[in-house]
Amino acid sequence: MKTVKKAIIPAAGLGTRFLPATKAMPKEMLPIVDKPTIQYIVEEAIESGIEDIIIVTGKGKRAIEDHFDHAFELEQNLMEKQKFELLEKVKHASDLANIHYIRQKEPKGLGHAVWCARKFIGDEPFAVLLGDDIVQAEKPCLRQLIEEYEQTQASVIGVQTVPESETHRYGIIDPIGQNGRRYQVRQFVEKPKQGTAPSNLAIMGRYVLNPEIFMFLEEQQIGAGGEIQLTDAIQRLNEIQRVFAYDFEGKRYDVGEKLGFIKTTVEFALNHEDLKEDVMKFMEDLLKNKIEV
Ligand code: G1P
Repeated sequence: MKTVKKAIIPAAGLGTRFLPATKAMPKEMLPIVDKPTIQYIVEEAIESGIEDIIIVTGKGKRAIEDHFDHAFELEQNLMEKQKFELLEKVKHASDLANIHYIRQKEPKGLGHAVWCARKFIGDEPFAVLLGDDIVQAEKPCLRQLIEEYEQTQASVIGVQTVPESETHRYGIIDPIGQNGRRYQVRQFVEKPKQGTAPSNLAIMGRYVLNPEIFMFLEEQQIGAGGEIQLTDAIQRLNEIQRVFAYDFEGKRYDVGEKLGFIKTTVEFALNHEDLKEDVMKFMEDLLKNKIEV
């Protein structure tokens, strides 16, 4: 039985939705409370049993490499000041896993970013985790997909239900059969035009894929938004071998756009031991004063 030990995290996107914050800083480094978003993703991968991660970076993404590297001066400084708790947090980021990097030289889309990591993956099944979706779940989202893969040896794509009005923002599945949380899929459609989506089940940035996907990525034509789309290659894979969708358990946070990012920050702060009371009080005060802005 094959299992999944390698993961790709595409992080080459330009982050235009967060400009000017992302002019000189990768969007993956924007923090939710005190951790950059990409660290939540790396932690999920490791908690799911992934041993090697390749981050596909692009221009201006050096801060990601520095974050997962040792920071000798900072560690020394914290040690001298006896700030051991902080020291642990800083070291934790660099001790996380075997993290490798490759650069996507042109921003040609998600499908192309995944294709850039093909030599690192070789002939093994692998995971893809997108940084715009953080998932909080009892069993890590990717772990749920890997366990599905272990049962079927078929590629499996994480999905969740979204409101009709949002389907055009996602890859959407056209399901033909359901067994518990697992769906058989007739078609995967990237960003269907409003009113044309075949269902409300949207791809949520977690994938386990068989390596045959690279054959299709290699020759994939430009799709929605003028980019090489992973969803289009998945659809072609689905035509030669089974590709399932899995409606995973857990709450998904959309940190890829401003409102989602703010909501996530507030909710995570309310779940943060040291912050929750003060944040709650601040919000109550804001509401009492009818939010004077
Ligand atoms: C990507 C995928 C899309 C998926 C989405 C989830 O789109 O192409 O299929 O539904 O991530 O966040 P993006 O948001 O990068 O345009």
